[in-house]
Amino acid sequence: MRFSNMKQAVFFSLLTGSLVQGQFPVATSITSANEILNGFVSFSIEFSSFPDFAGNNSHPNTFSDNLLENIRHLTGTKPYIRVGGNTQDYALYNASLPYALNGTFNPKRSLDYPTTIYIGPSYFESYSTWKDVKFSHGFNLGLGANTSEGWQTLLDTVPLACKALSDGKLYLWGYGNEPDLFSTAAQGPIRPPSWNESAYVWQWQNGTRTIHALVRQHCPDLARESEYGYMAPSHGGVGNRLKAHVSWAAGLNSGRNVRLYSTHNYISGATTPGVTLQSTLLNHTVTARSVNAQAAEYYRIVSLDPGAPPPIFGETNSLYNQGRPGLSNTFGAALWVVDFNLYAASKGFKRVHMHQGTNYRYASWQPIETNVTSIGTKPPYYGNIATAAALGRHEKVEVVSIPLTWHREAAYAIYHGGILSRVVVVNMRGYNTTVDGEGLVPLPNPPKRGSVEYSFQLGGLGKRAGVDVGVTVGYRQKVKVQRLRANGSDAVTGISWDGWSYNYELDQGRPARMGNVTTGEEVEVDGMGRVKVGVEDSSAALLVF
Ligand SMILES: *[C@@H]1O[C@H](CO)[C@@H](O)[C@H](O)[C@H]1NC(C)=O
Ligand SMILES: *[C@@H]1O[C@H](CO)[C@@H](O)[C@H](O)[C@H]1NC(C)=O
Ligand SMILES: *[C@@H]1O[C@H](CO)[C@@H](O)[C@H](O)[C@H]1NC(C)=O
Ligand SMILES: *[C@@H]1O[C@H](CO)[C@@H](O)[C@H](O)[C@H]1NC(C)=O
Ligand SMILES: *[C@@H]1O[C@H](CO)[C@@H](O)[C@H](O)[C@H]1NC(C)=O
Ligand SMILES: *[C@@H]1O[C@H](CO)[C@@H](O)[C@H](O)[C@H]1NC(C)=O
Ligand SMILES: *[C@@H]1O[C@H](CO)[C@@H](O)[C@H](O)[C@H]1NC(C)=O
Ligand SMILES: *[C@@H]1O[C@H](CO)[C@@H](O)[C@H](O)[C@H]1NC(C)=O
Ligand SMILES: *[C@@H]1O[C@H](CO)[C@@H](O)[C@H](O)[C@H]1NC(C)=O
Ligand SMILES: *[C@@H]1O[C@H](CO)[C@@H](O)[C@H](O)[C@H]1NC(C)=O
Ligand SMILES: *[C@@H]1O[C@H](CO)[C@@H](O)[C@H](O)[C@H]1NC(C)=O
Repeated sequence: MRFSNMKQAVFFSLLTGSLVQGQFPVATSITSANEILNGFVSFSIEFSSFPDFAGNNSHPNTFSDNLLENIRHLTGTKPYIRVGGNTQDYALYNASLPYALNGTFNPKRSLDYPTTIYIGPSYFESYSTWKDVKFSHGFNLGLGANTSEGWQTLLDTVPLACKALSDGKLYLWGYGNEPDLFSTAAQGPIRPPSWNESAYVWQWQNGTRTIHALVRQHCPDLARESEYGYMAPSHGGVGNRLKAHVSWAAGLNSGRNVRLYSTHNYISGATTPGVTLQSTLLNHTVTARSVNAQAAEYYRIVSLDPGAPPPIFGETNSLYNQGRPGLSNTFGAALWVVDFNLYAASKGFKRVHMHQGTNYRYASWQPIETNVTSIGTKPPYYGNIATAAALGRHEKVEVVSIPLTWHREAAYAIYHGGILSRVVVVNMRGYNTTVDGEGLVPLPNPPKRGSVEYSFQLGGLGKRAGVDVGVTVGYRQKVKVQRLRANGSDAVTGISWDGWSYNYELDQGRPARMGNVTTGEEVEVDGMGRVKVGVEDSSAALLVF
């Protein structure tokens, strides 16, 4: 399915959104979007953290698997897992290492992950611990095309990776993480200043030819046209020295082996001045701008190559450098996850891999206990769950953004096979109930929580692409309401989706009913075809038709 928001096809007048108790009527023209891929709610796992997240044959990480199963329960598909990140370009192979990964930290390069890394044969066991998951393994281009030890690692690990990913486990390959930053990386440059798109493409072609030859030799089933391919170029963003469309023009996909155009995105940085929860993450305008800039780079590629593969976010999260405490790990970040993911879907991105790592502030879950972070389900996971619930189980899911007036709110219509199936409203007005918004110490007298009533006018008949889709929502029909809730945008615990908790301490990540949260709510479509729903500040509501 091609990405074609450019044509601004007129969407049928099924739905308009307006704020009843507010001052403004909104939502006018709605443009078409295309179907997302299955497994839209997916993850990227830092290469050096993968053994923590997945475990190994003798110690599989079943907590992680429970969290992935919850998403399958809602969408019908287990998330796709991309294994990669900065550390994939530091990893060398040591055949005699008796465990998965020997990582050495260099605080001058990063406090969050090792920058000197050896992996052993048992690293690849981590690809066998979760049922029905497809993986992308990221090979080392950083050192691989730079040092003889790195090149040897490629030769040694392709056979191990392809064997581990046989039997239906291969998603796509990755070769190099964020090559656009190789010569400028804050963690230390791994290419000279002359590094540019031509140099990248040359090395990429050389490496991927070698990978293909090794796959053919060791895993012939995976070398077939239908199985073999990459997500690329995995750029860190759109504003860096190397540009994806220039790499494309330089022949990145001349071998026609890039199956998904993968780009990475962060809204801003963990230590960037001026970043706040309300103005940066709980701000739909900021999210939309960030996604729009990525879509624009993709359009440049499509204009060069109309046959370019569909776009995904192969690695993304809120704030780069692993997130900021008090922002990326709060309930506010969960609301941001919903807005970002659904907006990305509305702009034609087909799948979103939210990036995870051990001890990362923006992680959806901490897979093991460490001396930095306790094992557990973290607030952003509830955003993944709410997104999955909103998309639902269907083969043809489309998301349309309903333009609203204020920065602090967003709404989406979700269609199953062209029929309106759900409406999501995200009220991103911040609301604190803890001292200094740190999520730890409750305020003795929290302020009154605001609430906004949203009203949607459901059109009767719709025509789209000449097909009469008929009345999709009956007047007087009851509509189910499910909510994403917490005490405030500053909450770091006590979060629920439709009355469920997925916290580790309750049932190791399996859904657990919370007795203190109202569920089973319904609203009614009135005789004028209008449906109203009140949405508290710092919460989201899903209307299920
Ligand atoms: C490889 O692993 C073996 C066994 O642990 C160790 O003795 C050796 O020093 C390692 N080599 C490197 C380069 O780390
Ligand atoms: C498997 O994981 C356990 C727990 O982390 C670890 O102690 C063990 O060394 C691992 N086994 C191998 C072969 O890496
Ligand atoms: C782990 O890596 C460090 C740094 O390269 C090295 O000094 C150490 O010997 C390695 N340990 C093993 C068991 O390979
Ligand atoms: C590909 O790169 C490797 C490692 O840098 C190098 O040894 C090899 O000669 C290159 N292949 C070609 C065809 O130049
Ligand atoms: C290899 O990487 C080092 C930095 O780690 C850099 O100084 C050197 O220029 C690189 N060589 C090539 C050929 O890219
Ligand atoms: C990259 O640099 C090389 C050597 O300076 C030059 O020949 C080539 O045209 C440059 N490529 C691009 C895309 O700028
Ligand atoms: C949201 O972001 C826009 C664009 O950067 C900015 O103009 C606006 O002030 C922000 N709104 C809030 C509530 O922070
Ligand atoms: C935390 O654990 C890491 C390795 O597991 C160790 O290097 C570090 O010193 C520990 N930090 C503290 C504060 O104990
Ligand atoms: C919540 O607390 C944070 C941190 O003190 C503050 O910056 C923010 O403005 C507060 N938000 C609201 C809605 O009061
Ligand atoms: C949320 O608020 C309720 C009641 O106001 C309180 O009982 C509960 O402990 C709070 N939850 C958290 C996680 O602080
Ligand atoms: C419900 O109970 C949980 C667990 O005690 C708590 O964390 C949460 O804040 C409560 N929710 C409300 C709305 O009181």
